[in-house]
Amino acid sequence: MTDRLIVLISGRGSNLQAIQAACVSGQIPAQIAGVISNRPEAAGLAIARRAGLPTQVVDHRSFASREDFEAALDEAIATWPSDWIVLAGFMRAFTPGFVDRHRGRLVNIHPSLLPAFTGLHTHSRALRAGVCWHGATVHFVTAELDGGPIIAQAAVPVDPEDDEARLADKVLAAEHRLYPLALAWLCRGALELEGDRVHWRQSPPPQERSLLAMIPEDGTCTVQR
Ligand code: GAR
Repeated sequence: MTDRLIVLISGRGSNLQAIQAACVSGQIPAQIAGVISNRPEAAGLAIARRAGLPTQVVDHRSFASREDFEAALDEAIATWPSDWIVLAGFMRAFTPGFVDRHRGRLVNIHPSLLPAFTGLHTHSRALRAGVCWHGATVHFVTAELDGGPIIAQAAVPVDPEDDEARLADKVLAAEHRLYPLALAWLCRGALELEGDRVHWRQSPPPQERSLLAMIPEDGTCTVQR
């Protein structure tokens, strides 16, 4: 039986699209059971519908408390049998209670090389800090915001001519390769969350390890600010 993913989104849905394409091509041995958005206007909902995926909206603004919102989210999640809950641009922080209920099967992608730049506006903060490398991280979700054990990272060089938009594009392109790769490992049972560490039952194949870095051959660092 292939694994079943529930994908949680808040906006554009480009990672959802990349994950769906990877499920269809067989790169991820899984299917998307359903897509849930906390925003009715999320563009990603149209992407899901066009792909024939079932969708639900659980609008956080309709609930008096975070706990009430998460109870409704739990109900929506329980609609479909699932193995993994995949956060793809889902912009709500969870309570420790929610994280505990789904511990070990809740994964997220964050647009920075964690533990650097947790939270919002990661690209402008990376530029301001003058880092040479930026990127994206797939990690298990724990109660600490953007602080869970790291599964995979993709690095991109920061070029002197990068502005926020250009850097965001480069990182997003890396995300679209990284997330399917990490989900494929998860669904093949290559790793699991053990305590607060990732335990690798089997290493990813070497050709995928090299994809992991995503550092171009000519990835030079000549940043001067
Ligand atoms: C992605 O860059 C993702 O890493 C980020 O939101 C964007 C969603 O884009 N997630 C976070 O910032 C979570 N803290 P998408 O809707 O096109 O996939």
